[in-house]
Amino acid sequence: MRLLTVNRRIRRWMGWLALILVASLLVILWQRFTTLQPVVTTPAQVEITKTDEPIQPIPLEIATDKPKVALGEQLFQDVRLSKNSQKSCLSCHSFSLGGADRIAHSIGIDGANTKVNTPTVFNVRFNFRFNWDGEFTNLADHLDALMSNPRTMGTQWPTAIRSLQQVPAYVRAFSQIYPDGVTATNIKDAIVAYELSLNTPNARFDRFLLGDKTALTSTEKEGYRLFKNYGCVSCHQGVNIGGNMFQPFGVIGNYLIDRGQIKPADLGHFNVSENEADRYVFRVPSLRNVAVTAPYFHDGSAQTLTKAIEQMTKYQLGRSLAKKQIEQIAEFLGTLTGEYRGKPL
Ligand code: HEC
Ligand code: HEC
Repeated sequence: MRLLTVNRRIRRWMGWLALILVASLLVILWQRFTTLQPVVTTPAQVEITKTDEPIQPIPLEIATDKPKVALGEQLFQDVRLSKNSQKSCLSCHSFSLGGADRIAHSIGIDGANTKVNTPTVFNVRFNFRFNWDGEFTNLADHLDALMSNPRTMGTQWPTAIRSLQQVPAYVRAFSQIYPDGVTATNIKDAIVAYELSLNTPNARFDRFLLGDKTALTSTEKEGYRLFKNYGCVSCHQGVNIGGNMFQPFGVIGNYLIDRGQIKPADLGHFNVSENEADRYVFRVPSLRNVAVTAPYFHDGSAQTLTKAIEQMTKYQLGRSLAKKQIEQIAEFLGTLTGEYRGKPL
């Protein structure tokens, strides 16, 4: 009888002990799991000023993570991130050339041309997808693809990490921000933080939107009226005046079939979705800073802004506008050039 109660007591104690053990194990596992979570900078929601217009201004101040941005800025210019140190991000995305390079197809690794025109890196945080065909929904995955793409950076993470680890200043800079030092995740995190900081607010048009009615000339205002009235704004709208939807290149007729010599890159979002309805469909590009990012279109086929506007009126709207109206729209588009770090692009 006594023996039985002792046995029962021991068993109860053992039960408690087991429970405590399991609980502490769970706590340890949970801690390990949470500390192993990758640090990934995602675009924090920025406060956008509402306007009565279909376009909103870029906020003048956008909070950034300064140490990460400084590190990302260095990495952006560093050829160590490419095959045999041939290119840096800046080679194709030059800040003195509107965040792109003003040629139809950039010259990449081993002299290979990029398959599409290089888009600007400015204001990418306001795009819902990345690349002309809208393949990527986040900038970290986009960077993975850029790094291994044989035409752009042409390298692999382990190689890039090794060459950064040979630079004591990088090892120090990384360890100050990231406990685990130079890793692919951390390189991406710093570059993405930098990309998210590349915004060009304070365009004349933004000042106009914010109430300064003298910020535009009467011709530019007329250009904006036409831009809205003809329906350009049904596709080019929002903060980035584009970058928030997919549309075919050719609603009325097909620009690419008329141009001829269709290449895989001309199939647009079809390459991503393999859905027939997405053939020749592209992410509508942003028109911010468009006056300084010629040539235009994913194939770089329009040399001038007026040429691009002409093609748009023909293929997206099925109209043909007088030269004067095209020029007025071009003048309006010229007011979309903003400032990077306080200097006009
Ligand atoms: C050889 C030229 C070249 C180099 C070097 C290069 N890029 Fe690009 N970049 C391009 C091209 C071309 C595209 C468009 C690709 C596509 O649409 O398929 C692009 C697209 C982008 C985009 C997407 C923009 C958008 O709105 O869709 C970002 C962001 C970007 N690059 C950042 C970078 C960063 C960061 C680096 C360095 C790690 C880099 N690029 C290096 C040519 C280059
Ligand atoms: C049906 C949607 C739609 C309409 C309407 C539209 N666009 Fe576009 N726009 C696009 C798409 C999609 C592209 C990208 C085409 C490509 O390169 O594949 C584009 C590209 C452009 C470009 C070139 C941007 C660059 O960086 O290469 C300009 C400039 C432009 N549009 C201006 C206009 C103007 C001005 C109007 C009105 C006259 C207009 N668009 C109407 C969808 C549209």
